Amino acid sequence: MSAVLDGQVALVTGAGRGIGRACAEALASAGARVVAVARSKDDLSELLAHASGRIETWVADVTDDYFIARIATIKRLSILVNNAGGNRPQAFVDVDTESLDFVTGLNVRAVFRVAQAATRVMLAQGTKGSIVNMSSQMGHIGSPNRTVYCMTKHAVEGLTKAMAVELAPQGIRVNSVAPTFVETPLTKPMLEDPEFKEFIMQMIPLRKLASVDDVAAAVLYLVSPGAAMVTGHSLKVDGGWTAH
Ligand SMILES: NC(=O)c1ccc[n+]([C@@H]2O[C@H](COP(=O)([O-])OP(=O)(O)OC[C@H]3O[C@@H](n4cnc5c(N)ncnc54)[C@H](OP(=O)(O)O)[C@@H]3O)[C@@H](O)[C@H]2O)c1
Repeated sequence: MSAVLDGQVALVTGAGRGIGRACAEALASAGARVVAVARSKDDLSELLAHASGRIETWVADVTDDYFIARIATIKRLSILVNNAGGNRPQAFVDVDTESLDFVTGLNVRAVFRVAQAATRVMLAQGTKGSIVNMSSQMGHIGSPNRTVYCMTKHAVEGLTKAMAVELAPQGIRVNSVAPTFVETPLTKPMLEDPEFKEFIMQMIPLRKLASVDDVAAAVLYLVSPGAAMVTGHSLKVDGGWTAH
């Protein structure tokens, strides 16, 4: 029986751990050949050990020019999961310039450049494509100690909509996924604070965190033929947080 993504080639950034890893595994299980990218070789080796033969790993930094140039070597690229991102929670008045540059550099500049490089490949190869930018519920709302993160994820939402409008005539769909808190290495230290965890649980009407598989399922939907009419959309996987 053929799988839904048979014959497709996907690039997944930030695929060594957390959400990106679950996305890489889900896309490979759905039949895609996946190029999984992260900086830590050990994480990628672990991914390979558990995954099907359809995953190839690249040890690379998404902020490097070398990585951006290497994207052009991917043949028949039709899916991008633009997931690598990070956060350094700080009070607004305490945000230092190095952290501001780090978070905007990774969450906005690199996301833009990776999307641009992948789109160029799709256009040059004439492949119809689907791009999913990893946003956050924080791309729709504000939250304490998250001015930089909220700013970057709102930027991801703006990029997604503008790309969707511009690239629709060429058959490239662009959407975002906006999860609430998911327990991953990124959020583990935040969720270890019982007061913070209690605050989150109060805010999520479904009273649970999202799982990495919940997020991967949303990505899988958006890149599948079932979403052929969906572009410029932000799919919230937030248990109702932003419905308040
Ligand atoms: N976890 C949440 O609650 C949550 C909620 C909403 C949205 N998100 C978003 O979801 C995405 C993934 O988050 P996560 O929680 O899965 O994060 P994570 O557990 O910290 O994993 C991030 C992945 O990205 C890779 N990465 C980080 N910087 C990189 C770089 N410069 N170049 C290449 N790879 C890089 C990391 O590997 P290396 O360090 O080895 O490179 C790792 O594999 C982010 O965009 C985040 O903003 C997360």
